[in-house]
Formats: sequence, C-alpha cells, structure tokens
Amino acid sequence: MRIGFGSDHTAVALKLELIRHLEEQGHECIDYGTHDPNVRMDYPVPGKAVAEAVRKGEVEKGVLICGTGVGISLAANKVPGIRAAVCSEPYTARLTVQHNNANIIAMGARVVGTELAKMIVDEFFKAQYEGGRHEARIRMLADIEREYGASWEKGAGKA
Ligand code: RB5
Repeated sequence: MRIGFGSDHTAVALKLELIRHLEEQGHECIDYGTHDPNVRMDYPVPGKAVAEAVRKGEVEKGVLICGTGVGISLAANKVPGIRAAVCSEPYTARLTVQHNNANIIAMGARVVGTELAKMIVDEFFKAQYEGGRHEARIRMLADIEREYGASWEKGAGKA
C-alpha cells in the first residue's frame, strides 16, 4: 500500500521508525514532513498535507504523529472525506478501520513507545472495512460535512 506520513517536530524519530517498519513489509511510504526535529513545526501543516494527499488519492492511507496525536488528527479531520482516528492501542486501531473506515491513523509520540506504535500500525493496515451496517453511519459523517458547505466527492479520490 502507498502510505503518506506526517509529523510535527516532536515525532520525527518515531515517524522514521514506523516508515522503516512498514517499508520492511513492502509498503511504499511517502514522508510529507516535517523532517527536522530541531525546528518547530506546527501540527496543522503536516496534518493538512497528508489529509490532502489521501483525499486526492496520492496515497491510500495516512499516518500522522504529534505529541499526543490529537492536534494533528484535528487538522486532518478538517479536510472533507478524511476520517482520522487517534489510537493508543491496537484494538481501537483495528476497529476504527472495520467500523469507521478510517483512512488516517494518528498517534502521540509522547504517549506510545516505538514497539507499541508498530503494533498499532500493523493492526490498522491489516484491518478491512466491514461496510454493511456501518455504511449508513459513514454517509452521515459526509452529510455533516455537506451541511457545512464541504464537498465530499469533489476531487475526493479514495477518501
Ligand atoms: C507540541 O508541543 C504539541 O502541542 C503537539 O505535538 C501536539 O501534542 C498537539 O496536539
């Protein structure tokens, strides 16, 4: 799978570990920054970059990391068609794909260690969306976006 990665300055090291881990499994990983842990990067910047890449179909899914995972997921979720979920353990990572059809996983580098983060992304990328009863709820999320003027379909790629 083609996966987009993004982090703020707090999470560059963990991001690089996860890229290495997923590349070893044959995934293609594209790093949308930031690259320098010593220069502050506001989390909305990489959050938006990866979310837009998913929306356009440049990458199939995304991995976003900041200190807690919260700020960067909030940024990503502002982009129509994005369902970014903050996960601190593998169970939620699996369920958010199966039930919410999440297209981005977010984590906190100050929350999870490297080995736990690897287990979380493994579960996320192994899981399959179940559709069925969940489909109507996903449509309801898109309805909220439309209600506030966002166009979900326009240029939405696989998002
Ligand atoms: C940066 O200090 C921190 O606020 C950021 O990485 C993130 O945790 C925000 O949600």
